[in-house]
Amino acid sequence: MIVFKYGNSLIPKSKAFSTAKRLDSEIKKLREGKDEYAFAKLPIDTSSFRIVQAAVSMKKKLHPQLIVVVGIGGSNLGTIAVQEALLGKNWNLHNSPRILYADTVDPDALKVIIEEMQNCLRQGHQILLNVVTKSGSTTETIANFEVLLNVLKRHRKDAEKYVVVTTDKHSKLWNLAVKNNFSVLEVPANVGGRYSVFSAVGLFPLGMLGVDLNALLAGAAWMREQCLDVKGPAAISASLLYNNKKSIHDTFLFATDLESLGKWYRQLLAESCGKDGKGITPTVSIGSTDLHSMAQLDLDGPTDKFTNFVFTHFNNEIKVPYYPEYNALVPDLQKKELNHIMHAILHGVKAAYKKGKRPFTETRLDGKNARAIGAFMQLKMMETILLAKLLDVNPFDQPAVEHYKKEMRRVLSK
Ligand code: PA5
Repeated sequence: MIVFKYGNSLIPKSKAFSTAKRLDSEIKKLREGKDEYAFAKLPIDTSSFRIVQAAVSMKKKLHPQLIVVVGIGGSNLGTIAVQEALLGKNWNLHNSPRILYADTVDPDALKVIIEEMQNCLRQGHQILLNVVTKSGSTTETIANFEVLLNVLKRHRKDAEKYVVVTTDKHSKLWNLAVKNNFSVLEVPANVGGRYSVFSAVGLFPLGMLGVDLNALLAGAAWMREQCLDVKGPAAISASLLYNNKKSIHDTFLFATDLESLGKWYRQLLAESCGKDGKGITPTVSIGSTDLHSMAQLDLDGPTDKFTNFVFTHFNNEIKVPYYPEYNALVPDLQKKELNHIMHAILHGVKAAYKKGKRPFTETRLDGKNARAIGAFMQLKMMETILLAKLLDVNPFDQPAVEHYKKEMRRVLSK
């Protein structure tokens, strides 16, 4: 499903293992899954899953042609990551239900969503509005929700049937939703936004799109078991990140549809470990696109990066045709599979990294399938907790984010 290799991390195995051994007590907390560690048990929490499944079955009966997820940060990044990895970035071009995401308060971006909703509703099709906010009080989310609810209400007298609110039980939004007869789904009390993809936060919209939730959770549950060990991939990877002492961690994904998975991880690492003057800056690169953008810096700039190459089997096979006269342009491409060319590029990049003594690990997925993506995300969440332990920071809070929010509220109140 997933293979993690770290032979080129430039950290001796003995060092990696001895640091990982210090994580025993933290792994125990992940195993128990109490308090904020509850996220680690979501893949085996069958009762929450059943509630989501029931909500999916109920709302599928409405046959929505468009799903709009309103949420930001941990409330939508996981959904986007899984959707694009499994269904493709271009899912909306040829499939139904389509899905759109309203996160920031960019009026031009929201206008596109409003128009899509209006088109759908005017043609007599149904849409589903899923507002996702743990706190129930995130400025962007509530502003966007009010705007989009207004659109829905203008076209449907029974608008409440088409709204699902995912939030903390008894947040102000929860109470408002109940009063308005919206469907409600609970974000488990102890599960924080960026750790919530395997709760109703991610599972409900993904279930509506037909993602195989059982396989997603099975992959995550399998990885949970692997990581409940100081010799498991989460502890080793955390130990390597810690011991490398590099200020930048690049996730270099060799599949276009995995870009948002990289961005999901970027938030996870940044918000969880960037505090008290500590942290590692996460970056996301796409192979081979960013080789034509970043490779010079990566290979010849400052040695401040530790890279994780992520690669996968592709779903399609496409061959370059045979045009002999084109061989003079780039030799040895004729009749070659694109897969094979990508493989050669990856091989070349790894060789260049080795030659330049740039440290890297490798994560190989056996495909863009639900089990592998579930496993990858569970690995990264557990790894992040363990890295935070080594850095001696609290992975569950984001106190500095409050600073801008306070100032923003002051401006809004004028
Ligand atoms: O990971 C986190 O906790 C944050 O990124 C939140 O998910 C984000 O700020 C949105 O918060 P909320 O779900 O309360 O709207």
